[in-house]
Amino acid sequence: MAIPDSFIEELVARSDIVDVVSDYVTLSKRSGANQFGLCPFHSEKTPSFSVSPDKQIYHCFGCGKGGGVISFIMEIENLPFRDAVAFLARRAGMEMPDESEDDKERQGRRTRLLELNRAAARWFYENLAKPEGAAAAAYMRERRITPRTAKIFGLGAAPDDWYALTNEMRKRGYTDRDLIDAGLAKKGKNGGAYDVFRNRLVFPVIDVRGSVIGFSGRILGDGEPKYLNTPDTPVFQKSRNLFALNLAKRSKRDMLILAEGNVDVVMLHQAGFDCAVASLGTSLTADQARLIKHFKENVVIAYDSDAAGVKAAQRAIGLLEPAGLKVRVLRMEGAKDPDEFIKTKGPEAFELLLERSANHVEYRIDAVRAKYDMDTDAGRLGFLQEAIRMLAGSFNPLEAEVYIGRVAELAGVGRESVAEQLRIVRRGLAGKNRKDAERAVMRPERAVQPDSKRIRYANVPSALAEEGVVKSLLRDPELVKYVGGLEPEDFSAAFLGKLFGTIRAKAAAHEPVTPAVLMAGLEPDECAHLTRLLQEPVNAANAREAMGDYIEVIRREGLKTKKDRDIMAIRENYQKKKGLGG
Ligand code: CTP
Ligand code: MN
Repeated sequence: MAIPDSFIEELVARSDIVDVVSDYVTLSKRSGANQFGLCPFHSEKTPSFSVSPDKQIYHCFGCGKGGGVISFIMEIENLPFRDAVAFLARRAGMEMPDESEDDKERQGRRTRLLELNRAAARWFYENLAKPEGAAAAAYMRERRITPRTAKIFGLGAAPDDWYALTNEMRKRGYTDRDLIDAGLAKKGKNGGAYDVFRNRLVFPVIDVRGSVIGFSGRILGDGEPKYLNTPDTPVFQKSRNLFALNLAKRSKRDMLILAEGNVDVVMLHQAGFDCAVASLGTSLTADQARLIKHFKENVVIAYDSDAAGVKAAQRAIGLLEPAGLKVRVLRMEGAKDPDEFIKTKGPEAFELLLERSANHVEYRIDAVRAKYDMDTDAGRLGFLQEAIRMLAGSFNPLEAEVYIGRVAELAGVGRESVAEQLRIVRRGLAGKNRKDAERAVMRPERAVQPDSKRIRYANVPSALAEEGVVKSLLRDPELVKYVGGLEPEDFSAAFLGKLFGTIRAKAAAHEPVTPAVLMAGLEPDECAHLTRLLQEPVNAANAREAMGDYIEVIRREGLKTKKDRDIMAIRENYQKKKGLGG
């Protein structure tokens, strides 16, 4: 069920954005109206994150993120809209309006499972000092995990017993249903429950808010499966969490190290690399990439150096880069994983490796190669062209120099001919860049476009007029009288059309239009752009005439687009016919 606007209005009124943001960011007042702090969404040294108490919005001049109090919570707590509203409602002491008995029950269930998880984690930890935890404690010593590290991570021992945890938790009032729902027990043939984690070293998975949401258990030594993980439960989704992110997010290092095994993560932290995390028994997901982006800009992949690890790394790069992260890959020569590397070569050597970790160009070259059949001349030529374009586009000459040899070798041509090709492509690109730059100065399109590629304007003149309509209406909803027959579909930018539709409906019903209500229907990147618009001045004089001008531009550009489309259709038709004839 949708949350009524009136509720959102009151919630926003009771959740002062300065208060809410101050839970996460230290803000300081300056002479102007806005307060500033270090942006929580990207790493920076000078504050470019601003909060406006008047407009109740935030905006980062560094990374372009922005929005109202609800989008702030969505972004920083990584919550969907509804949950962010519930989060703020709890904070403001308001009861969620349409919280049905079902919702309440579900919330109660979640709370119960989280309590059970916490109790289980504590019990696992206490076992380390008891006879039933001796085997796990011995394995920890063998892997050289110190008691201090065990305490920081809350590591624990699952006894070699089918019922130890189940019996203990039953005594404390938890039911078999609770245990099974939490993924800690399974139902046996005779109907009773038995422990999932047996004779294993247990790693609690703690989310960024500090709740124990699940567990990984490692076998004590060799054997299969090496790790057991909590299945998805009402409080745990393994594709949306990362092991040790609760610790890594507080690290002073400006990167996240992505490892494969929990033992690797623990050993990295113990050696001073307290920004290490691992995914939880699945390969990396897009959700996890986005989660990382909330905390850090840079990711260093430190997967095992076997073939599976290399393949997983290539896959991870393909998810991390689109999320806007800068990715590097570690090459741990002479060791199979970070744990072994640190044990044999020491933390200092690992630190050096981090510093030197090259850009992941070699992985990218391999990815290009995989696309072509290198046994044919045509395939090698295709590879050569694409690889050279990549080198020319992404790297400075010195960096590219290192990889010319590699490309030449793979393509089976001389180094010098690759270098020459590269120079030619580079010259071509330079000419193009110069032209692009000139164009950008003449028409400051870059400054106009939304930061998010997803919502880039296809038709800038029209989009600017559409922005004008939206801004004017927000300043003075009465102007809705002058929009004529303009419809949301006439907008070239879909989200501006959506905004227009909402504003028009509200104005017709004589209801207030607030940024909070508008943002409720938008995606985060759309919110960010709307925030930017809200900060731009609106020319209040001749508002009515301006509206007329905007509409004319939108109509004219719309017609042009239609004509373009018609011409394209004719051309396509013609080509089709020609194809048939020939
Ligand atoms: N894995 C898993 N569940 C986890 C963590 C890892 O299933 N919670 C899987 C990974 O997908 C990967 C393997 O376990 O396939 C990684 O383990 P590895 O790095 O070998 O684990 P370690 O405990 O570090 O083992 P070793 O001491 O052998 O390096
Ligand atoms: Mn390992």
